[in-house]
Amino acid sequence: MKIRSYKLSDKERLREICLRTSSYADRPSEARKNALCALYNDYYTECEADNCFVAADDADEATGYVVCSTCLSDYLAAMQNRYTAIAKAAGRPFAGLEQRVTEALLSKHAEEGYTAHLHINLLDEARHQGVGSALMRTLAKHLADRNVEGVMLICGSDNTNARNFYERCGFELLQKFFCACVYGAFTEDLVRKLSE
Ligand SMILES: CC(C)(COP(=O)(O)OP(=O)(O)OC[C@H]1O[C@@H](n2cnc3c(N)ncnc32)[C@H](O)[C@@H]1OP(=O)(O)O)[C@@H](O)C(=O)NCCC(=O)NCCS
Repeated sequence: MKIRSYKLSDKERLREICLRTSSYADRPSEARKNALCALYNDYYTECEADNCFVAADDADEATGYVVCSTCLSDYLAAMQNRYTAIAKAAGRPFAGLEQRVTEALLSKHAEEGYTAHLHINLLDEARHQGVGSALMRTLAKHLADRNVEGVMLICGSDNTNARNFYERCGFELLQKFFCACVYGAFTEDLVRKLSE
């Protein structure tokens, strides 16, 4: 397994991984697939491809990814102008509300220095081999090199596996909000912890 930068030819595979690993993805319609990808995948690969990294197998096919936004204002504008509308039109009527909550949480913690945010997802067969940690290490170094102060993420409170992973990587729980947990880490701390 190697970690490399995202490339355009990975796009559909990343959408597939996004859908296969989503807790909402029980037999979704095409419209719902587009909705999920619009919210959790397409913005990052289409607008901030430089901040996306892939775990690839021997055939160079992606088996996992970390996608990240380092510019909250660009993210907010693009979600409001394009991606949330796609999700709503595609059959997620609550997408607007969910997205507003997400944006409020991201905006609040950006003021504390956690200006970037990420999503990480691996197919089953790539898990428990240190691949998630390797992806996170690559992203953390990338962010630190660009003087991004901190990075956060939002995770389901019941996703114990992911929460343990984030805590082991060095993220701290910033806030609980209904069934969501917000985690944050300063990038220099993350690099240090992931290099241990
Ligand atoms: C959360 C996630 C990204 C973690 O990635 P991962 O690659 O499995 O993480 P790691 O391999 O670094 O660590 C996971 C476990 O494997 C163990 N591990 C790491 N390297 C290992 C190795 N070489 N051999 C055996 N076990 C290993 C770790 O100790 C850890 O064990 P634990 O969970 O029992 O404490 C991944 O499980 C995932 O994509 N889950 C589904 C989607 C998801 O929930 N995404 C997050 C949404 S908020």
